[in-house]
Parts: sequence; C-alpha cells; structure tokens
Amino acid sequence: QLSVLHKFKGILFSNMSSEELLNSLDSFDAREDDVFLVSYPKSGTHWIAEIIESIPNARITLTSSIELGDISKLEELKMYSQRRVIPTHLCYDLLPANIKQKQCKIIYIIRNPKDTAVSLFHYYRDNPNLPYIETWSAFFELFLRGEVVYGSWFDHVLSWEEHRNDKNILIIFYEEMKKDFPKSLKKITTFLEINVNDSEINKIARKTSFSEMKNNSVKENFDPNHTVCALTSDRNLVFRKGVVGDWINYFTSKQKRVFDELFTEKMKHSQLARFLEEIS
Ligand code: A3P
Repeated sequence: QLSVLHKFKGILFSNMSSEELLNSLDSFDAREDDVFLVSYPKSGTHWIAEIIESIPNARITLTSSIELGDISKLEELKMYSQRRVIPTHLCYDLLPANIKQKQCKIIYIIRNPKDTAVSLFHYYRDNPNLPYIETWSAFFELFLRGEVVYGSWFDHVLSWEEHRNDKNILIIFYEEMKKDFPKSLKKITTFLEINVNDSEINKIARKTSFSEMKNNSVKENFDPNHTVCALTSDRNLVFRKGVVGDWINYFTSKQKRVFDELFTEKMKHSQLARFLEEIS
C-alpha cells in the first residue's frame, strides 16, 4: 500500500518526487528575487498561489513545485525569465541551501492541524498518487505519528517556526485569510513590495474565492503550469469544502483529547500555536 510513497531522509515523499531530484536539490540555483511558497500539504497552497498570480503588475511566473518530477526539474526552472514564485512542501531543513544563503523571500502558510488532517485524509482517498487509507481512524493514527507524506505536521511547523522572525519570511494563516482577507492580502503585497488599491483588492478577493476557484478548476485542469502541489496535477482534487472547523465532523471526543494532548506537548513553546489557538 505504501508503494506510491518512498522515504527520503526519514520523511515520506510521493513517487512523483524522484529520489534523484531530492538528492540534487542542493544544487538548485536560487535567484535573489525568487519567492518561495511553502506549506505543509492541504494548508491553502493553491489559494495563496492564485492570490499571488492575481496581483496586477506582479510580473511573476508561478512554477510547479520544486520537488515535483525528476532531475530535469532544475534545468526547467532555469528557463523562466520573469520573477519566479516556486511552491514547495519541504520542511526548513530540506530546503535547498542556496535559498537560505540568498535570503529569498518565503511565504509560509499554516492551517489548523485538525482541519489539515481531515483535508489530507480526503486527499489520500481521492488522489491516486497517495495510498488509499480505508478509515478516518486509521489515517488519524498515521497523521499523529507523522507517517504521512511530508512527515509530521508538528515537526514541519516547528522547523519553520524557528525562522519566523527572519525578515525574508512571512507567515500567513489560512484561518486569518478566511476571517480578514484584505488584511492577509495586504501583508502579502507589502511583503512582495507591490502596491494594490482597494478596487484591486476586491477584484482579487472575488477571483480567489473558494467557489470561483472550484468552478475554474474544471477548465484549468491538467494544465501543468497549474501544478502547485507536488502531489497532483488534477485540480479537481483540491477544492473540497474550503471551510474552517470541518474537523468537528470527523474527530471523536477521544481523538480530540489525544490530539490536543500531543499538540500541547509538541507545541508548548510555539508562538505560532498560540496564534492558531486564538484564531481557530
Ligand atoms: P479542504 O479539503 O478542507 O476543503 P492545498 O492547496 O494546500 O492543497 O490545500 C487545499 C485545501 O485548501 C482544501 O481544503 C481546499 O478546499 C482549500 N482551499 C482551496 N482554495 C481555497 C479558497 N479559495 N478558499 C478557501 N479554501 C480553499
């Protein structure tokens, strides 16, 4: 059942990320104006990608994920002449060294881990590039142990948390985007040093609403330029519910207790966790 996944440096990856590519990521040639869009899977990566693409005069090109494909990927990324926005689900430690040295801009998006787990459960079931897990309770156990693609949510977030005050890193919360879209959008555009006016903000909000993106996914499907997540090029698999708090429909009270205990333990020194608790 795990045949669609493989382990690299102790972390599970889909077979769509070749070991050879993962091994050579450190020879990736970062450019100073590159922007990296980083997330644990199912945290709202496609949403942020669409937002950035919708900013007028951004003059950027959204590429596919840096860890998707084989070794030819590194050559392919050289062909873009515009400023590149490059998505990835890598944890901080696996991020190519060059990106850190050049202090490229990085946007890290975080989502409440319970909703992330439920979203990833559905992705596992619907996405042929991931193992099929029969029940929510079986998936829940795997998620808790970090035996899922890209490893433990906790370790991923904590790896990025250490760098939350670096001036080249912006952290955005899914829940805050839902609650106050203009505020999150302004954070993004300020960070990217692009001006947007109020009417442009409204336009972007409409264009990147869940319903709009879900409707468009049909016609944009299988366009490799829109492969934001290294786990699929099928956008139909991405837009499920797009809400905050769907976990309540899946977690039993015992699962909630077990999860909260682990969260408290793992995230006891985490500022990001405090913010997540406030906003969720
Ligand atoms: P759900 O499965 O809870 O619906 P990613 O892009 O990182 O793969 O994350 C996918 C999750 O983000 C899915 O969550 C998806 O529905 C949600 N999503 C995608 N676009 C969205 C949007 N425009 N607004 C709100 N949620 C969105």
